[in-house]
Amino acid sequence: MTTIFLIGFMGAGKTTIAKELAKKLDYNVIDLDEYIEKKHNTSIEQLFHEKGENGFRALEKEALAEIVKTEKSIIATGGGTPCFYNNMEVINQHGISIYLKLGVENLMERIIESKQERPLIKGMGPHQLKEFIAQTLAVREPYYMQANYKLKVKDLQIGALADFIKAEMFTAPIN
Ligand code: S3P
Repeated sequence: MTTIFLIGFMGAGKTTIAKELAKKLDYNVIDLDEYIEKKHNTSIEQLFHEKGENGFRALEKEALAEIVKTEKSIIATGGGTPCFYNNMEVINQHGISIYLKLGVENLMERIIESKQERPLIKGMGPHQLKEFIAQTLAVREPYYMQANYKLKVKDLQIGALADFIKAEMFTAPIN
């Protein structure tokens, strides 16, 4: 049995798609951000505030190491997870990684719609947010592109993805 990692930028739909996929595959869902929040009994926003981004990244790495071996699970990572330390390597060593890919315009629409507080973009106006997404995505994409599979979220059919993953696990089990 394997572990499936969903990676991609904030707003790409990792958490939502993880839940849908888990239902279809009868897998467990682990949302890395939620895991960190439960573990430290506080919010991601508060952790950024107290420890700064570097402090948060260290906790994120530690949390990732704790959950990578959870079998039969879909792990929704945070948008920055694959881009710090050797996290992408760790992810690829422990399961199948899927990059949920969206362009700047679509990410922008989805991030603006979501009411969720995200410390990295808090308080940004539309212009600044677009710049941030474009610049950050350019830095992060080389990491995201190391995923085993790259899927365009706009075309994504969860049912078809679940069938594909099932077939993939059957023919090419990892671990
Ligand atoms: C972050 C994305 C967030 C969360 C933290 C940092 C990032 O997760 O881990 O706010 O660096 O892109 P989501 O991608 O689930 O929003």
